[in-house]
Amino acid sequence: MTNKLIPSEVVNEAYWMPFTARNGFMKDPRIVVGAQDCHLISADGKRAFDSLSGLWCCGLGHNRPEIADAVSQQLRTLDFSPPFQYGHPLAFQLAERLTGMAPEPLQHVFFTNSGSESADTSLKIARAYWRMAGQPSKTKFIGRIKGYHGVNFAGTSLGGLGANRKLFGHLADADHLPHTLRAEDAFTKGQPQGGEELADYLEQLVALHDASNIAAVIVEPMAGSGGVIVPPSAYLPRLRALCNKHNILLIFDEVITGFARTGEAFGADAFGAIPDIMNLAKTLTNGAVPMGAVLTTDEIYQAFVDEQQPDHAISLPHGYTYSGHPVACAAALATLDIFDAEDMVGRARKMSPVLQETLHSLRGAPHISDIRNVGMAGALQIEPRDGDALVRPYELGIRCWEKGLYVRWGGDTLQFAPPFTCTEDDLGRMGEVLAEALGEVV
Ligand SMILES: Cc1ncc(COP(=O)(O)O)c(C=O)c1O
Repeated sequence: MTNKLIPSEVVNEAYWMPFTARNGFMKDPRIVVGAQDCHLISADGKRAFDSLSGLWCCGLGHNRPEIADAVSQQLRTLDFSPPFQYGHPLAFQLAERLTGMAPEPLQHVFFTNSGSESADTSLKIARAYWRMAGQPSKTKFIGRIKGYHGVNFAGTSLGGLGANRKLFGHLADADHLPHTLRAEDAFTKGQPQGGEELADYLEQLVALHDASNIAAVIVEPMAGSGGVIVPPSAYLPRLRALCNKHNILLIFDEVITGFARTGEAFGADAFGAIPDIMNLAKTLTNGAVPMGAVLTTDEIYQAFVDEQQPDHAISLPHGYTYSGHPVACAAALATLDIFDAEDMVGRARKMSPVLQETLHSLRGAPHISDIRNVGMAGALQIEPRDGDALVRPYELGIRCWEKGLYVRWGGDTLQFAPPFTCTEDDLGRMGEVLAEALGEVV
């Protein structure tokens, strides 16, 4: 049991909160003090259904004892191990486990501590790869409008959400593909069809910059934070083919889509295109301990391996103090044990039609301009009020929280990614609360 707390007595201005609207928060602080299964518990003892698995990361439900036990045991066995020049068994085990799950060409794993670090790591590896391969002019990166790759320097530049970029200026040599949100796809259930023409825009960027200057294209298979933008069926295969044609590396940022969110283990499996580099984080440890990973093909890895180099030469001068942290590895291995034992892919597939119906049954409710979903992810797009696209999603999010539903509002959308372990009743109640809130907000 958690003791009840008075929110206004908890908060202070010492804590500079991430991505938080300070004024609204300070007026009515939302303080979470506990979690259980698919629910968050607030300071006043209220249980709120967690419709975003935390921040897309606790897909297996909260407070899994298997993960807690593994972490606790690891903290008593080896709390830290120097990752530079030394190894520990769990990092090797976890890398092998991940390459065993991922699409076959992805055979090597570089550990990071977050999705943002995975973005920067993958982009640095891409640039270094071309240098090692004797093509050092290939330095430019292509992202996508409405994309999100975290908040580090490269991820900020490659992302395509203006609000996240405009304060910081131009941070990396980047250009962007158009987003894949087409007006004619509004209210599509699951994946829209076609979309080659959206990928073909890469030809224009190649004409502009020349392939000899482009290192990599980075996209989320399904744009998550941009509002669950599901790729049309032909889009990613076409993008893959064009990257092959122009000798450009393709990076999938699977920080959200990784580990069953789309109803397959990875977005690459769901959408029929395999990248050269795949970024992971979030559900890798079920959100319990920060960890990320970057998977690469053997071809990329081999470019850095030179048996003729002297023994003391470092092949990739990159890494973090906490790369492959033993406690994070223990959490990830326990997470993957549950992932397999409880067939999370099967659960996601079983629950995704329920999520689809829950969201699409809101069609016709006030303020909704689009509903999108794939697997266990979905979004409601909300009409602007008086030209302000952000105000209604904010008000809706607050109302839902008051009614016992944690919902992520982002841009002009409400976003959903419930735990795979949720029930039909959980989703039914979520639909009722959303309908109520939509009816109340002006
Ligand atoms: C696709 C994607 N990439 C990267 C990130 C950044 O991850 P982190 O917040 O762990 O740095 C996120 C976070 O939401 C994400 O959705």
